[in-house]
Amino acid sequence: MKTVCVIGASGKLGQYLVQHALDCGYAVVAVCRERSVGKLARFAGRIAINPGATNDREVIRKAVEGCDGVLTVLWPWGVHQYSSGTAQAVLDFAPPGARLIFSCGWHITMDGRDVYSRMFKLMEKVTARIGRMLRAVDVYDQIEACRRVFASDTRWTVVRGSDLEEGESQGLPVWSRHVGDPVLASNLTRRTDFALFMVAALENDELVHEAPAISAIMKDEL
Ligand SMILES: NC(=O)c1ccc[n+]([C@@H]2O[C@H](COP(=O)([O-])OP(=O)(O)OC[C@H]3O[C@@H](n4cnc5c(N)ncnc54)[C@H](OP(=O)(O)O)[C@@H]3O)[C@@H](O)[C@H]2O)c1
Repeated sequence: MKTVCVIGASGKLGQYLVQHALDCGYAVVAVCRERSVGKLARFAGRIAINPGATNDREVIRKAVEGCDGVLTVLWPWGVHQYSSGTAQAVLDFAPPGARLIFSCGWHITMDGRDVYSRMFKLMEKVTARIGRMLRAVDVYDQIEACRRVFASDTRWTVVRGSDLEEGESQGLPVWSRHVGDPVLASNLTRRTDFALFMVAALENDELVHEAPAISAIMKDEL
């Protein structure tokens, strides 16, 4: 049995990641904040839990030891380099050759060739400024986290999600190298399918060193 570590396991995306990883037969090591361990109660006895902040290097070092893959939820909480600290710890301590899958949003660009609507750009700017002003979220730190991943020679994939919604699975999302590609017309993905894509990426070598932008397949294409 292969082992994967899910970092940020107690959140909405994280819990789907744990479920899909178990369904695929992986042994799961979870990292989440101490106060959130209870959110993983339904997995009791089926996963190992390492409580702690995801940017705590010692917590990450222990959790990823011996793992074949690491699924990391990158969220830029606060103004103390939470996202980049988490990403850096994973890059530094994951075993050589491990598959590293990170989550983020469409706003991250790897090569600057994504095409965004005016409204998208405006919303990104406003969210980034307000988030920083309130010291709640630092989008620029998530950008920095991804910059470090892109520069790394580890076996990474950065999965870029569109707007997310809850609901039953609609199947594996479609992906493209660039936002703006007609295949991504729906701009919406079920959270469970975002997780499905990340878990499937563990075994998909075509996605190594790619930053796939994903979205659900349009209904009229089904
Ligand atoms: N939401 C969207 O519309 C959207 C769109 C595109 C992409 N994404 C990407 O999807 C991923 C997860 O998104 P999500 O909406 O599904 O969120 P989520 O899974 O609920 O993730 C939130 C994570 O952040 C942790 N967290 C919450 N408050 C925190 C704090 N103050 N300090 C430290 N950690 C804290 C949560 O842990 P606890 O359980 O401990 O609270 C949880 O692990 C991210 O990579 C995001 O960039 C989201």
